[in-house]
Amino acid sequence: MRRIFTLVTVFTLVATFAQAQISVNKILCENRTNPIGLDNTQPRFTWELASAAFNVSQTAYQIRVSTHSDFRKIIWDSKKVASDSSVHVGYKGKALSSHTKYYWQVKVWDNTKKASAWSETGYWITSLFNTTEWRAKWIGPGFTEDSLRASPMFRKAFSSTKKVSSAIAYITAHGLYEAQINGHRVGDAYLTPGWTSYGKRLQYQAYDVTDLLAIGNNVVGVTLGSGWYRGLIGFSNNQNFYGKDVALLFQLHVTYADGTSEVVLSDGSWKSSTGEITYAEIYNGETIDARKIKKGWALNGYNDAGWSGVQVMDYGFKTLLATYNEPIRKHETFKALRVLKTKKNEHIVDFGQNLVGWVKIRLKGKKGQKITISHAEVLDKDGNFYTDNLRAAKAQDIYILSGDGVELFEPHFTFHGFQFIKVEGYNADLNPDDFTAVALYSDMNPTGSFSSSNALVNQLQHNIQWGQKGNFLDVPTDCPQRDERLGWTGDAQVFSRTASFNMNVDNFFSKWLKDITADQTEKGAVPFVVPNVLGKGAVGSAGWGEAATVIPWNMYVAYGDKQVLKDQYGSMKAWVDYMKNQAKDDLWNTGFHFGDWLFYSVNDDTDGTSAVTDKYLIAQCFYAYSTQLLINAAQVLGKTDDYEAYGKNLKRIKDAFVREYVTSNGRMVSGTQTAYVLALNFDMLPEDLRPQAAARLVDNIKKYNDHLTTGFLGTPYLCHVLSRFGYTDEAYKLLLQDTYPSWLYPVKMGATTIWERWDGIKPDKTFETPTMNSFNHYSYGAIGDWMYRVMVGLDTYNDGPGYKHIKIMPHPGGGFTNASASLQTYYGTVSSAWAIGGDRLNFDVEIPVNTTASVYIPAKDAANVTDGGKPLKNGKPYQPANSKENYIMVELGSGTYHFTAPIEVQKATVK
Ligand code: BGC
Repeated sequence: MRRIFTLVTVFTLVATFAQAQISVNKILCENRTNPIGLDNTQPRFTWELASAAFNVSQTAYQIRVSTHSDFRKIIWDSKKVASDSSVHVGYKGKALSSHTKYYWQVKVWDNTKKASAWSETGYWITSLFNTTEWRAKWIGPGFTEDSLRASPMFRKAFSSTKKVSSAIAYITAHGLYEAQINGHRVGDAYLTPGWTSYGKRLQYQAYDVTDLLAIGNNVVGVTLGSGWYRGLIGFSNNQNFYGKDVALLFQLHVTYADGTSEVVLSDGSWKSSTGEITYAEIYNGETIDARKIKKGWALNGYNDAGWSGVQVMDYGFKTLLATYNEPIRKHETFKALRVLKTKKNEHIVDFGQNLVGWVKIRLKGKKGQKITISHAEVLDKDGNFYTDNLRAAKAQDIYILSGDGVELFEPHFTFHGFQFIKVEGYNADLNPDDFTAVALYSDMNPTGSFSSSNALVNQLQHNIQWGQKGNFLDVPTDCPQRDERLGWTGDAQVFSRTASFNMNVDNFFSKWLKDITADQTEKGAVPFVVPNVLGKGAVGSAGWGEAATVIPWNMYVAYGDKQVLKDQYGSMKAWVDYMKNQAKDDLWNTGFHFGDWLFYSVNDDTDGTSAVTDKYLIAQCFYAYSTQLLINAAQVLGKTDDYEAYGKNLKRIKDAFVREYVTSNGRMVSGTQTAYVLALNFDMLPEDLRPQAAARLVDNIKKYNDHLTTGFLGTPYLCHVLSRFGYTDEAYKLLLQDTYPSWLYPVKMGATTIWERWDGIKPDKTFETPTMNSFNHYSYGAIGDWMYRVMVGLDTYNDGPGYKHIKIMPHPGGGFTNASASLQTYYGTVSSAWAIGGDRLNFDVEIPVNTTASVYIPAKDAANVTDGGKPLKNGKPYQPANSKENYIMVELGSGTYHFTAPIEVQKATVK
């Protein structure tokens, strides 16, 4: 019996592997699932493959596109194409039409020449390719706005007499908009149309509203808010940055089942009025007066006789473009963790997480009763509500009750950064169930997970992810709570690689990078913030301008997205040329720079304890790094002339650096950690000077009792440089350091996001200066990249970007007994996990189909390594340069692998 059973099992296994059919798992168009409203004429297709077998790759694909879901009318058939490409494969069929739904499928052949079945059917809907297709009019309120600029509402009744087969609404606004059709909200995106450099680029959104239309009378209703367009923006509290009047543009294409169609347009026939939103500002919050609700205004039969007409404005359509990045959506909700009363008798609700969004409340009270909801990230050392760090941002939502029973309130055109709210004007004890905090952020797919045997480090990862969620709100903002919340370029560049692990930020950054290009000066200087609301002069700082080069390169590496490099190449080159033109004798040592922002400093520093790094030394490092990234991009895009020209320039930049900032013994003019980190990370020093420079860096860390002293620019690369030069132990010491300054000190102080400052809350529980003390600033969260890429070892080779050619080289150590991470790539999930069990290291990896991986097993002798319980085959010993760490390297195809190796103390100290 047992023999028969084994035979059956073996037979099934062989049959499975033999038969293992490759299948197409997930299909994307322009990195999205069934996108509506794409205006590019050659969208790119991506598909993920699956197979139970090992070592499976694609050898050919075939794509077909049709205007019919049964593919009876083929628009494009690629036929069988011999290729292993399955990411960003461009459409090459007949010219596409505007405002049309296209269906597509793909099938592939694997390396056993077996074909897959056709994939599920995907679709995309094209938008308006030409601005001439806009027939709607820009309309504004037909009345004089009050001083508070209450949110104007627009209404239009229209009838659709026949069965509707499809209805697509194109909407945008000057200001923010929320639309309804027959009382139903259009879509689930918030703070639309999002924030771009409105003067040059204004996104519109497309919505499939087929199900919202009724045969007969219909009503569309749209409410506007000031938003980024004319609301308070920037820290000099100026309004009307892009314009002083809000306006709506609405165009609804209705196609009837009988093939006829009609268009409903915003024009002079609409009606306007105001309602319950009597005030709304992003920084200051929103006021809703429920006594002013116009019940049923967006429903058929509502009498709008008393409403005003509208003003038709002639803003034109040349800045309009379709939306590519994910919309802002509602995500996690938080119930009240606790309700408390402070010593100052304040009624507080604690949601237990510093998040970005707003609070939904349910209240019962008297007509005209005014409830004020204030928002704060922290309580002060006496447990009282603390809002000084919000500076001029009031961050208050005010609700005036109608008195009709239980009332529900939530804002529309604002957002807050908070963990705590204070409730005023409500005389009863607060019922925690009446308060729900709602997190709002760009709806990027979560892709990465990291965990380890250390709870504090896991909390650090949590804080990094919530810092990203809190600040990726259509634009990567520095902070979400005070009168700033701006697209600071430096912060975004230092965090971009970490961000690409936690979520799919490909489209998010691709969109924002186009705003960098839009706001870059003619001379190529990159603004401090994008969209640039700080003025033409707020440009050109080293480390901040690098957003123009670092982020495109990181998106290429993380997603294999060549289009980002193509789209941004001009901007990358302009920034490098700007620095080149600023430089004298290859030295860029002029102009304003932020330097190593928020480096470790002590008051009354009489002996140079503060880690002040020469700003021009830093500038020269980033001049070189951006030039290097431009060279990389030129190589990928086959721009050989640039590749050679900038290659020569790079050498001169580095030579000038050594001449200016390095003594013949290799000592830097600034002896700070950041100086050595940047010089080593960007290969500014000749090979022979590098080991001693790394040793000086480690000496410096010891001088500060194993503490870092780096600011925004040194921090992202600190641990990378230490592990690259064989000091992984020191890197772990810094990671596990939990007194100030360190990554874990805020965690120990109860942080649930990343702080702007290493000591936002000081050990004595007092606060750093309120002039600049955000508790939700992701820059220092850039350590996440090292945790994924070095600690657990998940990485991609630049020559196989987007994890086509994966590199897995973990660095067990630091007293951790396990660490693991996984990443959802366009090819599928790649993961790495190591765990120490007794005297063996267990090491599991998962490699997606259609990729290959170079996997480095921490072990000295291949003979002691097992693979799936059997002796490992084809393992090659490997030792990284500058390090004594030992690895056995194996080249792997797709599959899941389980290796074990003897625990060998991986002495990482330098050779
Ligand atoms: C912002 C930072 C930014 C810095 C540059 C601050 O106000 O919050 O995120 O990088 O200014 O100086």
